[in-house]
Amino acid sequence: TLCDIGFIGLGVMGKNLALNLADNGYKIAAFDLDTEKVEAAIEQDELERNDGPQRIFPCTSYTELLSKLTSPHLIILSVPAGAPVDDVCHKLMDAGIQADDIIVDTGNSLWTDTVEREARYEGRFLFFSTAVSGGEVGARFGASLMPSGDRYAWTRIEPIFKAIAAKVDPDTGKPIERHEPGNPVTEGEPCATYIGETGSGHYVKMVHNGIEYADMQLICEAYNIMRTGLKMEPKEIAAIFRKWNEGELNSYLIEISAEVLEHIDEETNQPLVDIILDKAGQKGTGLWTAVSSLQVGAPSPTITSAVYARALSTQKDNRVAASKVLAGPELKDLGLSKEEVIEQLHDALYCSKICAYAQGFQLMSMAAKEHGWVLDFAGIAKIWRAGCIIRAVFLQSIADAYERDEELANLLIDPFFAGQIAKYQNNWRRTIANSSLIGIPVGAFSSALAYYDSYRSAVLPANLLQGQRDFFGAHTFARADKNDGKMYHVEWSKPGRPVVKVK
Ligand code: 6PG
Repeated sequence: TLCDIGFIGLGVMGKNLALNLADNGYKIAAFDLDTEKVEAAIEQDELERNDGPQRIFPCTSYTELLSKLTSPHLIILSVPAGAPVDDVCHKLMDAGIQADDIIVDTGNSLWTDTVEREARYEGRFLFFSTAVSGGEVGARFGASLMPSGDRYAWTRIEPIFKAIAAKVDPDTGKPIERHEPGNPVTEGEPCATYIGETGSGHYVKMVHNGIEYADMQLICEAYNIMRTGLKMEPKEIAAIFRKWNEGELNSYLIEISAEVLEHIDEETNQPLVDIILDKAGQKGTGLWTAVSSLQVGAPSPTITSAVYARALSTQKDNRVAASKVLAGPELKDLGLSKEEVIEQLHDALYCSKICAYAQGFQLMSMAAKEHGWVLDFAGIAKIWRAGCIIRAVFLQSIADAYERDEELANLLIDPFFAGQIAKYQNNWRRTIANSSLIGIPVGAFSSALAYYDSYRSAVLPANLLQGQRDFFGAHTFARADKNDGKMYHVEWSKPGRPVVKVK
């Protein structure tokens, strides 16, 4: 029998995506350089298909993989981002892939690599990208998918990717949960929508991850205030997160944070979180988002601050040494009640979260203008409502905001979000002020507040900055009192009027 899809890369994500495809009735020809991974996928298929016909078929070479597929071929890659993607593409060309065959990259590829690949492989085969969020469970039972590139390729593969996507109940905006093999969810709105021209899907996924970094760091700062400031036990903090998960802060990341905090290590009988070394890893997508925000000039300080927080965490030895020599504040306790601090903290987390999303969405909007993409922000918020790591009820409110105004310059000025911050900001400010007084670092919280306060400032001190630049470098300045589009320079050491400077 011929297979519908060739699948290359059967690691954690790949195996689960392949099984998800199989659940949806597609026959898979599977290949991995590591044959044990293929065997593991075949075994899992055997376990799950309940005496039904085989759904995943092993291949030992690229040529065999192609020979097992219906034409035109569809091949999905789940290999590490970077060189392995091109390596597989070259091997498939050697094996005889044709111009109307499609290769779909599902990895966390750098979006500019995707753009280059599409151009490089043009005429050889159709290179298409579909960024995937949702970790292993999402891959297995429904992920959030961000496809972009050749529209014709998308029309051919759309039903397949919509089938394996997470689904949202259109009435509630909430995910339709699925946790068992077999019986895929067929109703609801699929979290897969065509994002745009080549590279845009991977760009959007990159920003998703930047927001994910910010979201995670904000939750960690909230945890730190409770753990270090209030000396609460992990279990107690988990209970707070569980409570918060029922309100505005409802999200997958809050939910899993509670689970992490509740986990007891079997060996020591201690909360596992107390044993995990405080050095954060990263694979690059948050950093790419921060870099892009600097290049595009779309301030994303909360995302960037989250990347810095991970970097600083890895300087463990330096921190331990510095902890013995650097002074902290004398004040150790503000004499506030625990309940009061926790209530303030909730609001601080919520307001900061709004700012992090506002930054991510504005970054996408400015990048889209620069690269000529037409992005549908309501659509993007909608496919993030289920399946992905940042899934949250909150994303429905973002979708609503962009449906009210698709040209919205910033989420902060949407009436709903503006109202939310107006309502909660005092507690946000108190949390940051109080944490600073007792020396608990809240880099992400405070970057979000500074972003908010800057964004709402009609006047910023950049007037002085322009004066400084003109002083030492004759870099010129515009006048606020004359809307004449002219640039002025003044001889700072001499009395006199600014003169128009023609460059
Ligand atoms: C997702 C995740 C996924 C991956 C991150 C982890 O959306 O499913 O973002 O892509 O888990 O890349 O990133 P770090 O290793 O950089 O934390």
